[in-house]
Amino acid sequence: LRSDLLASIDAAAGLDAVEALRVHALGKQGAITGLLKTLGGMSPEERQEQGPRIHGLREAVTAALAERKTSLERLALDARLAAETLDMTLPVDSVPAGSVHPVSQVMDELAEIFADLGFAVATGPEIEDDWHNFTALNIPESHPARAMHDTFYFPPEADGTQKHLLRTHTSPVQIRTMVKDKPPIRIIAPGRVYRSDSDATHTPMFHQIEGLVIDKGITLGHLKWTLETFLKAFFERDDIVLRLRPSYFPFTEPSAEVDVGYSVVNGKRVIGGSEGWMEVLGSGMVHPKVIAACGLDPNEWQGFAFGTGVDRLAMLKYGMDDLRAFFDGDLRWLRHYGFSA
Ligand code: PHE
Repeated sequence: LRSDLLASIDAAAGLDAVEALRVHALGKQGAITGLLKTLGGMSPEERQEQGPRIHGLREAVTAALAERKTSLERLALDARLAAETLDMTLPVDSVPAGSVHPVSQVMDELAEIFADLGFAVATGPEIEDDWHNFTALNIPESHPARAMHDTFYFPPEADGTQKHLLRTHTSPVQIRTMVKDKPPIRIIAPGRVYRSDSDATHTPMFHQIEGLVIDKGITLGHLKWTLETFLKAFFERDDIVLRLRPSYFPFTEPSAEVDVGYSVVNGKRVIGGSEGWMEVLGSGMVHPKVIAACGLDPNEWQGFAFGTGVDRLAMLKYGMDDLRAFFDGDLRWLRHYGFSA
């Protein structure tokens, strides 16, 4: 019986056959089960002789069944792995990949550079009211600066006042931040702004980034260091030279327009050096009237602010020459400057 059973277990062709053999030998009606039952009717001497033989047989058969089962399972797995190979050399269907627009990319870069300097990102609405966009920034109603901003106005209110407009700059976020937060304040505010203006260097919608620092004892020196540090990091050059030109903005005093030096390489202007100057931003010390309009004491708090065109910074960094192309959504243009697959 033993050699018969072991031979047929070894020869079992599949898991079903192994299971059938197990029932045949060890099941309720199985051959070995039957032998085990005979032990009860034996004399002690007989049982002492037969017991170990029958139990030994059962163990040997149980082990053989388990072993055959494992090896059959392994064979099945090997067969499956052999059948399921992937052909890594098959060509893949190409899926067009999107990419981040250069303007968004520059805004992300700027947020990262200023985060390293301890600036948080603040935001405000694109539909602004007159007070935040102009009045609180020391641009009263009759001020000529209002006309200079080429503002898009919404229809007048029922009472005839012209309250809502598309913000013409990101400076209203200065106001919203000073009204809401206690100094010290260090924020940048990137976002869309709108002016009724359109040519190769002006689009009706464009992007600015505002900077604002309010603290005790802030000076023009802090402003210049901050601008220099940010422009060096942004243009990834150490030879950035700044020129601060006295200027006028109603909300800063003194005010300065900031030029960055360029050099000419193969007939093209490259930021760095000082062969010529390009205007990149407006800035100044926050006007005491603006600080007071936000409910802060200008004798206690001082600060600086600056504002710059994000699209213009992107053009300078990537050597692009038509601002309007930024908003055409032409994939060939994006590809040309390496912004799309
Ligand atoms: N808001 C100004 C503009 O749009 C730029 C500016 C911001 C100037 C902050 C000074 C301080 O031209």
